[in-house]
Amino acid sequence: MTTEQTSTAGPAPPASVTQAVLVASEPVPEGVRQVRGVDFNRTQGRDITVAELVDHMGSMGFQASAIGDAVRIINDMRAYRDPETGDRTTIFLGYTSNLISSGLRETLRYLVQHRHVSAIVTTAGGVEEDLIKCLAPTYLGSFATPGAGLRAKGLNRIGNLLVPNSNYCSFEDWLVPILDTMLAEQEAAKKKAQETGNEEDELHWTPSKITRRLGLEIANEESVLYWAARNDIPIFCPALTDGSLGDMLYFHTFRSSPQQLRVDIVEDVRRINTMAVRAKRAGMIILGGGVVKHHIANACLMRNGAESAVYINTAQEFDGSDAGARPDEAVSWGKIKANADSVKVYAEATLAFPLIVAATFARAEGSSPERTKH
Ligand SMILES: NC(=O)c1ccc[n+]([C@@H]2O[C@H](COP(=O)([O-])OP(=O)(O)OC[C@H]3O[C@@H](n4cnc5c(N)ncnc54)[C@H](O)[C@@H]3O)[C@@H](O)[C@H]2O)c1
Repeated sequence: MTTEQTSTAGPAPPASVTQAVLVASEPVPEGVRQVRGVDFNRTQGRDITVAELVDHMGSMGFQASAIGDAVRIINDMRAYRDPETGDRTTIFLGYTSNLISSGLRETLRYLVQHRHVSAIVTTAGGVEEDLIKCLAPTYLGSFATPGAGLRAKGLNRIGNLLVPNSNYCSFEDWLVPILDTMLAEQEAAKKKAQETGNEEDELHWTPSKITRRLGLEIANEESVLYWAARNDIPIFCPALTDGSLGDMLYFHTFRSSPQQLRVDIVEDVRRINTMAVRAKRAGMIILGGGVVKHHIANACLMRNGAESAVYINTAQEFDGSDAGARPDEAVSWGKIKANADSVKVYAEATLAFPLIVAATFARAEGSSPERTKH
């Protein structure tokens, strides 16, 4: 081989080009985790547990890691004890109505039954669908079934779930006598207050008092409202009238006229804000967006922010919606503390939340101490 032949590789690329493509790496800081996924070789011959799976997902990246962060943050909420009083984290749980329509209701009922949360915020459907399910079932359908055909059959669609109109008729038959009694109690208390001259004797119905009453009335162990009432966990619903409940309350005004059932939302905002103010530590777990998300965040503003937050929703932030806002936007408002631990899981809640609960609240005895009463 001649010297000429060995040099056919040509001249090296300009240093400016190689430097532009491959900037020299600084050492990766200590403690940074390596990306690793689930290696099913390790569990060959046996079933992997959900807690194991979720544990491995934490180092996968993308939304799997967000689920891992949610698990870590929730377990931290659960582990906290105030050094002086021993108080636990006050956990505010929020969920949109459709999640009660879905089978996530059983997971939510579990959390309330075992006192894993301190207060709930939901919308009207999140209250009524829980009660209606005690009277008649919701069915699996299809996202694709045309609305006109369903309307003709008296079937209502929520995504790929179907609720017959007859369920709402059963709900009305169950609810109206209770509304009659609540009105009678309100009027009797008003009369008593007039006689005693003591305004304290008046009965002001609030959404949280109504959800408690309805939970006690339904007396069904499948119900979130029932367990919340039994365990003194308030269910706040500032927009109580935006659903079938509102229809019934509207019709009831004709039935009861000239008397009217009154519902006081101010007393409830005071109640939830006071819970946030008095909490030694506040944690938010919010499934979905809209009223449920903001009502909890706004209550936490009263304490200059929650110490930890887990959002799970499909909403995006580019439209400036509160539903899509990441936790950092709430930091700017003082609704989450600047040094808080928080995550937004970009996921549909029926997929993500059972995994998270399996790796946190539902861990076997010993790894998940039961909450004491608040
Ligand atoms: N079953 C029902 O859905 C139902 C029944 C009766 C009344 N309503 C009424 O409809 C109104 C609007 O409902 P809403 O405020 O409860 O919420 P919504 O259904 O309008 O959802 C608000 C946002 O939450 C997020 N979200 C919703 N479902 C999600 C999921 N499965 N996973 C992840 N993110 C999700 C989305 O970003 C959505 O834009 C309320 O006033 C409610 O009372 C709903």
